[in-house]
Amino acid sequence: MCGIIGYIGTKLVKDILLDGLTRLEYRGYDSAGIAVLTPSGVEITRTVGKVSALKEAATQAADGHAGIGHTRWATHGGVTVPNAHPHRCGRVTLVHNGIIENFALLRERLARSGRFPLSETDTEIAAMLIDSLYDGDPAGAILGAARMIEGAFALVVLFEDRPERLYAIRRGSPLVALSNEDGAYVASDVTALLDHGRDYFVPPEDVLLVARREGIQLTDQAGNAVRPQMLRADWDYTAAQKAGYPHYMLKEIFEQPQALTRTILPRVREGIIQLEETAPVDDALKGARQLFIVACGTAMHAGLAAKTLMENMLRLPVEVDIASEFRYRDPIADAGTPVVLVSQSGETADTVAALRLARLKGAPVVAVVNVKGSTIARESDAVIYTHAGPEIAVASTKAFTVQLAALYMLTLHMARLRGALDQDRLREHAQALLTAPQLIQEALDRESQVREVADAVHRATDMFYIGRGLDVAMAQEGSLKLKEICYLHSEAYGAGELKHGTISLIEPGVPTFALATQREVYPKTLSNMREVRARGGTVIPIVTDGWEVEPGSYDYLLRVPGEGGVLAVFPLAAILQLLAYHCAVYRGLPVDQPRNLAKSVTVE
Ligand code: F6R
Repeated sequence: MCGIIGYIGTKLVKDILLDGLTRLEYRGYDSAGIAVLTPSGVEITRTVGKVSALKEAATQAADGHAGIGHTRWATHGGVTVPNAHPHRCGRVTLVHNGIIENFALLRERLARSGRFPLSETDTEIAAMLIDSLYDGDPAGAILGAARMIEGAFALVVLFEDRPERLYAIRRGSPLVALSNEDGAYVASDVTALLDHGRDYFVPPEDVLLVARREGIQLTDQAGNAVRPQMLRADWDYTAAQKAGYPHYMLKEIFEQPQALTRTILPRVREGIIQLEETAPVDDALKGARQLFIVACGTAMHAGLAAKTLMENMLRLPVEVDIASEFRYRDPIADAGTPVVLVSQSGETADTVAALRLARLKGAPVVAVVNVKGSTIARESDAVIYTHAGPEIAVASTKAFTVQLAALYMLTLHMARLRGALDQDRLREHAQALLTAPQLIQEALDRESQVREVADAVHRATDMFYIGRGLDVAMAQEGSLKLKEICYLHSEAYGAGELKHGTISLIEPGVPTFALATQREVYPKTLSNMREVRARGGTVIPIVTDGWEVEPGSYDYLLRVPGEGGVLAVFPLAAILQLLAYHCAVYRGLPVDQPRNLAKSVTVE
């Protein structure tokens, strides 16, 4: 999604903006631009395509000590230079992340006073609106515009006649800020600012941020000073670099053993899982008569796996909902139905909206979040942080497996609260979970076998994933990874469902991966696999070590370390991730930044 950077201070701004935008590239974008405040006015450079093109275009541009930069992921209007940010109107130049929902209404209103946009964007309307309200008082103009704008926004604004200040305001869209002896910085996320400091804050919503070279001030709508809550980035930029791997995605796949250890280990106390962070909602978790898990994409798949686990262990009904559906279907949520939100970024617009709806309905909200201080983390009643570290590749990998671990731990915690498992069983589960990092490492050690299979199947145009029980959720995740980065059609099914329609799509050469890591149902999955093979399909069972697979019943075979069951989700996830990764590499695709996708989907 769009990335924002802004700086004012004693240093030259152009390189700070361009470096910041490079670090925000992972968010996904299709055009980029910067605006630099120079003695002769604001100079804007914009290009379509990569930040490298912007860098080239900006070589001759003037430099200065204040400026803003932006990477745009198109929402209103196509991918063109006039639609790229920054946008200028009169003395106002700004960048924007989010969607202004009432932009058509505002555009009409501005047209009545003879103001017409040059671009198709909602952002230019914001620039025009602020300019129309500007009478020499930047704060009044920005706050006035914010009151009129409906939707989500993070705006960073330069006023040509106020060269000593940079202004920002946000509602619903991410923005972070920090200051040091060289000046003040704002950005969409802290990754862009790590060279300038570790102590940062998230400006509260609808609060005006005024940055000067001496520091940053926050004031609310009534003009009162607001003190931000400081956060510390406990990782540095090297954690967000490729460290010798050809792609971020591969690096992040290989970081999973450490990420899992960081997430699980601190929560094992006296041999069992203890989640102190859920204390505010423990009574609700104890008495819950139903649970919702709400998320999008990969995070939702972690929820699907957790549903199987929770229903099994807790005998508690669990409903998994796509956030964009939950928010509009008037869910039957109340104080007796806690809502568990799962999100890597903590900023996904639909998940944020689901959170606010759940709270409105009086449902206690627990969030499983990776990014500290994100909107979902701040607004939930309790937060279980995953400690994946920065996830830069668009395709989520390590964030998924730590989400699985966090949800497993939540299940065990609830089992203790509700008396669903005795102390011995709780201990057994905690000990088992502690082996997850090792299991995933063993799967990573099998990369070359996975690569061989990827080599054999990567030219296919359609692929299928089947499984039963926990393997259904994993099939969905494997299929999503493949679609995202390999641009090929893929579907995932409960293995028993294929013959109710989809099997008609099987023809010679179409690969089907049969995931079989759940002991009770694995023979059934393998027999569904044989049905596919009988119709000429290429079949690849992915089966737990040591479990029998009839020789001659498959084309290629992959093995999952361990003994199957719940823990198999960890090594299986790694195998499916490696499979998608190597298929994408064989297909020559841009693994880390697949087309049309954004890392954090901050629009509806
Ligand atoms: C897939 C992927 C997306 C995200 C989804 C939710 O690889 O990355 O499907 O999982 O957009 O994002 P978060 O977890 O940030 O809410």
